[in-house]
Amino acid sequence: MTQELNTKPASYTVKHTEALTWVQQVAELCKPDNIQWCDGSKEEYNRLCNLLVDNGTFIRLNPQKRPNSFACFSDPSDVARVEDRTYICSRRKEDAGPTNNWIDPKQMKNTLQGLFDGSMQGRTMYVIPFSMGPIGSDIAQVGIEITDSAYVVVNMHLMTRVSSKVMDVLGEDGEYVKCLHSVGAPLSPGQQDAKWPTNPTTKYIVHFPEERSIMSYGSGYGGNALLGKKCFALRIASVMGKEENWLAEHMLLMGVESPDGQKDYIAAAFPSACGKTNFAMIIPPEEFQGWKVTTVGDDIAWIKPGRDGKLYAINPEAGYFGVAPGTNEKTNPNAIKTIAANTIFTNVALTDDGDVWWEGLTKEPPKNLTDWTGKKWDPASGKPAAHANSRFTVSAGQNPAIDSAWENPKGVPITAFVFGGRRSTTIPLVYQSANWAFGVYMASTMGSEMTAAAFGEVGKVRRDPFAMLPFCGYHMGDYFNHWLQFGRGLPAPPRIYGVNWFRKDAEGKFIWPGFGENMRVLKWIVQKSRGEVNAVESPIGWMPTYDDIDWSGLDFSHEQFESITTIDREEWKTELLQHAELFEKMYDKLPKEFIFMRELLLSSLWRSPEKWKLEPERF
Ligand code: GTP
Ligand code: SPV
Ligand code: MN
Repeated sequence: MTQELNTKPASYTVKHTEALTWVQQVAELCKPDNIQWCDGSKEEYNRLCNLLVDNGTFIRLNPQKRPNSFACFSDPSDVARVEDRTYICSRRKEDAGPTNNWIDPKQMKNTLQGLFDGSMQGRTMYVIPFSMGPIGSDIAQVGIEITDSAYVVVNMHLMTRVSSKVMDVLGEDGEYVKCLHSVGAPLSPGQQDAKWPTNPTTKYIVHFPEERSIMSYGSGYGGNALLGKKCFALRIASVMGKEENWLAEHMLLMGVESPDGQKDYIAAAFPSACGKTNFAMIIPPEEFQGWKVTTVGDDIAWIKPGRDGKLYAINPEAGYFGVAPGTNEKTNPNAIKTIAANTIFTNVALTDDGDVWWEGLTKEPPKNLTDWTGKKWDPASGKPAAHANSRFTVSAGQNPAIDSAWENPKGVPITAFVFGGRRSTTIPLVYQSANWAFGVYMASTMGSEMTAAAFGEVGKVRRDPFAMLPFCGYHMGDYFNHWLQFGRGLPAPPRIYGVNWFRKDAEGKFIWPGFGENMRVLKWIVQKSRGEVNAVESPIGWMPTYDDIDWSGLDFSHEQFESITTIDREEWKTELLQHAELFEKMYDKLPKEFIFMRELLLSSLWRSPEKWKLEPERF
């Protein structure tokens, strides 16, 4: 039947013969019932949302409460990224490195060929031309995603720039990233479709970096299926960046303007579900009159050196796929405004009047909730109503704090990098690395307690270098060297800071109030980078004293501050042992500097008191 399928778009012309051939070949392999070339139009978005409602995948929310918005529940086997099913299939194993799964690309292609054969039977195959970054910009990159999921198409509409214009940019022979996706659930004639088709037993998220291609099978969720995001904009783009001297990072981008009108841009890397979206949309406390924060991006940054020696960054995405739980009017008012309409919610709970709810949205849960499995929620069950990794998908343009330059094809100049994990002990609230190399060391050895954003042991500390462990498309040791080398080429590289919002007290409660109050730390970071505030030298870098932080409007004592800034030698000994463990894992490619920097850290910890404090004179 496949020969009869229309492998050309009806409404626009494709001059790229190789792309047409690829689509044809994929159709012959996957055997869909139909092919639809997407154009990115509103009409297309609405039509597919209606189709998803008719199929039972989408529930249209109450238009009075949440106009033009939808909710859906995934299959319980398909709720997060699957890192153990994610592969970097470079030709040589050593190019993938010790932190990525690897299988010989020929062997992997054989396996995938078998899985994709007939995988789209009974379904429509959508062809999505999309741009990461403003269409036609020098920094932007083009992809074509082929998928058998209408859910993926509408999410791609919000998260990337889907347009037939992308095919004009490609012309007859432009370069693009091939993104092939199937939920892996073919339908036999007459078979009733699932609301969330997925393959509960077989999932593969595979990257072929030399070919710049991606094949994803068996999952319809987030980063597994929206291939422009982690697969393309991080794993494939990080390889491009290494070859072409730029960076593709798991970073938010924000503008910070002080009352005198000076504006700096900050790039910050936190692991998944550790607060990038929250930080990128932060609203300064009332007392910070005249300080303004604007969002450029909340998850991914592409960074290139400019001719002036500064680093320029763009957000390659066009939307947010943000964590719902914990988001509320207090923690993230800008996010609440952003998702007031035109939003897709996945795996949140539903109220009986057709709106959404999740843990943390309100103190008291409303009565009669439907939980993320579609059942009536029993508050006494101890189970959350919304899945811990439930998310909203929404256009970035709806963010009231969007930065005026967020679509500037040249990007925004970076003043400082910030790195932070989720650590209940050891790591202080904020510190500045002595120089670029020490900053790269700090980011490379960063640890974080695992979250629900990926399958795994939630709460366990793992090393997550640069928050890129699941997203670097090549050998992590080569990645460290790329960062070191990158900085050597800059006359005045951005300053590098570490932060930790997550230290806990003996009762297991967060000590730092976090969220909007993080502005106090951000202000110090910006002013420190400008040379406007003081710092003292700690065993691990420069730190603000209590008096260097603006406390206006917050009751936070010296003692509390001390409890999140003390550097405990015993804890740091464990920390440094874990650094050594990481280094052994990638010994063949480890920058030699790291060995010496670790020694230097060890010696400064030994020279300091067992519990090093910022203000010993107070005792
Ligand atoms: P990905 O989209 O997975 O890459 O994550 P992200 O880094 O954008 O995470 P996000 O901002 O969505 O935050 C996820 C979780 O962190 C939410 O449950 C928040 O409530 C929590 N969080 C964010 N900022 C803070 C903070 O300052 N303090 C505390 N305690 N929790 C925070
Ligand atoms: C993350 O896990 O870091 C995310 C969500 O940003 S996903 O797109 O599912 O990877
Ligand atoms: Mn992310």
